[in-house]
Amino acid sequence: MQKYTEIQSAYDEWANIYDENINRTRDLESLVLKQMLQGKKFDLCLELGCGTGKNTFFLSQVSSRVQAYDFSHQMITKARSKISAQNVEFIELNLLQPWPVLDASADLIVFSLVLEHIEDLQEIFKKSNTALTKKGKLYIGELHPFKQYLGTKARFENNDQIEELVTFTHHVSEYMDTGVNHGFTLKNLTENFDDDNNQIPRILGLLFEKTE
Ligand SMILES: C[S@@+](CC[C@H](N)C(=O)[O-])C[C@H]1O[C@@H](n2cnc3c(N)ncnc32)[C@H](O)[C@@H]1O
Repeated sequence: MQKYTEIQSAYDEWANIYDENINRTRDLESLVLKQMLQGKKFDLCLELGCGTGKNTFFLSQVSSRVQAYDFSHQMITKARSKISAQNVEFIELNLLQPWPVLDASADLIVFSLVLEHIEDLQEIFKKSNTALTKKGKLYIGELHPFKQYLGTKARFENNDQIEELVTFTHHVSEYMDTGVNHGFTLKNLTENFDDDNNQIPRILGLLFEKTE
């Protein structure tokens, strides 16, 4: 669990500047999420690894209720200070622990730039299936593994030093296979590029539906 403590501490340090840093991955993922979910309506959304709340306001507009979880006290404190929507509840929680939600109660689960910090996708898909209603949606927006193969990692500058976070690489086929093995059908997959560089996709967007 040492590596998860390191990730948590790194985000506690990053929280102060996370919103202000130039960060194309953060910004492009926000667009991908909106493109995937725009026009849809949900009852209960679980936003897992909400960070400073970059996507929380949008999710509160397309959902009746949002439960937003994160294990970094500083990231979630920042989110709380920014988001005043009455239908949002922030919960400080490690996603590897049990989630405080009734079985089959959520109809949307969102992971934005989080799963690169979680080694075991099996457990995440299993818990997502349990928490979702039938036909509930599971959105994943991640740094594309092609970028990871070339060495790109979540990182930030702290006192003129570059801090790199502990990350795990999940191949596209791993997301697909793990989803299918846990009762999901893939409804949409997008590969999203920077405007100025069409060579390697930056963000992988996936939308699954719970079918079993
Ligand atoms: C790159 S940030 C993304 C935040 C936000 N979703 C966004 O797109 O801006 C990753 C977030 O995941 C959280 N996180 C990573 N591993 C986690 C875990 N095991 N449990 C809870 N939160 C976790 C971090 O604290 C951090 O806030």
